[in-house]
Amino acid sequence: MKLNTPTFLRPLVGALALAGCAFAHAGEVEVLHYWTSGGEAKAAAALKATLQAKGHTWKDFAVAGGGGDSAMTVLKSRVVSGNAPAAAQIKGPSIQEWGKEGVLADLDDVAKANSWDTLLPKVVSDVMKVKGHYAAVPVNVHRVNWLWANPEALKKANAKLPTNWDEFFVTAEALKKAGITPVAHGGQNWQDFTTFESVALGVGGADFYKKALVQLDAASLKSATMEKVLTTFKRIKGYTDKNAPGRDWNLATAMVIRGEAGMQLMGDWAKGEFIAAGKKPGVDFLCAAAPGTANAFTFNVDSFAMFKIKNEANQKAQKDLAAAIMAPEFQEVFNLNKGSIPVRLNMDMGKFDDCAKLSSKDFVATAQGGGLVPSIAHGMAVPSAAEGAIKDAVSNFWNSDKMTAAEAMDKLVAAARTK
Ligand code: GAL
Repeated sequence: MKLNTPTFLRPLVGALALAGCAFAHAGEVEVLHYWTSGGEAKAAAALKATLQAKGHTWKDFAVAGGGGDSAMTVLKSRVVSGNAPAAAQIKGPSIQEWGKEGVLADLDDVAKANSWDTLLPKVVSDVMKVKGHYAAVPVNVHRVNWLWANPEALKKANAKLPTNWDEFFVTAEALKKAGITPVAHGGQNWQDFTTFESVALGVGGADFYKKALVQLDAASLKSATMEKVLTTFKRIKGYTDKNAPGRDWNLATAMVIRGEAGMQLMGDWAKGEFIAAGKKPGVDFLCAAAPGTANAFTFNVDSFAMFKIKNEANQKAQKDLAAAIMAPEFQEVFNLNKGSIPVRLNMDMGKFDDCAKLSSKDFVATAQGGGLVPSIAHGMAVPSAAEGAIKDAVSNFWNSDKMTAAEAMDKLVAAARTK
């Protein structure tokens, strides 16, 4: 079988093909995803090659739009019209919401045959199960509370990588004086909230983050700490450029790659862009915990749910895809390209860079220390209706020249009640 397999994937395809995968019942899997940027597309190619190596056909259903809002809108219309794709990038509480609709295939047989319960951290396997049964397969662990920086730009500005928010604004001011855009940002509500939740974590700490943004506790959402979070968050806007509104996240990352901007607050899918551009961590770019969050880890686990379909060969292809995603070969090649770390425990991190190794170490340390928190911006924490409403409230505050922090807090409290 001629596979249009990129060179970097040939070892993976070889390993799987050598495993003597039965090509007898070739099926087709239509996969809905939103991985269309440079790094994301290379990682998605690894997923496609994995399925093809098992003798099945990948039907690509890519819906561009970072963060996945557009993809989820398209998914809903496909399912409502009775034409669900075989697999879709669904994660966090949305797995429960789709599971309740009775449209997701049960993956317990694959999970049991491949010991997922022992290979996954419980914080992850719990998210993948609906009423105790596996309804999705996890792909990776992204860390969201990262700061990316261009070392050349920092040098030009005689500035240092900030470790807290006071230092952040000193560095931002120095970059501005050097004529470099201090913060690369794209004005979409999930990007605004990605920045906002890192500020909340850095200013308020993990316990405040969990109470305010995960439990949506009204007293925390309207508090002196939240007021400080909002004012710190809004102050960042003064260090972004006028073309930020509507900019895609990966174009913001490209500004840091080119040295036009000094820093970006973004999850480590941004590292996938640096890697795809041939940049080296510690040389061409720097990674550091977002200011004040070195002892915390905002997790974002990508996963795929399989929809119930009738065709037996395609059902087999779905199960083969789920099994392959959790296999060590895929876990390595996918995450090396995606910028995330493997979700499978006890993986050899030898081929991963220092950013990934720090992420892997911190994932374990924060799970034990209480600093491991779910990302709201990336659909890991609250029901989708409330998530959408609080994202809009935060973006309205970011975009308004008139809204006060007090008014923003009232809107957050109201948004948190959205069902
Ligand atoms: C996140 C997703 C990541 C990455 C990012 C930008 O929600 O989990 O895998 O794709 O959006 O699109």
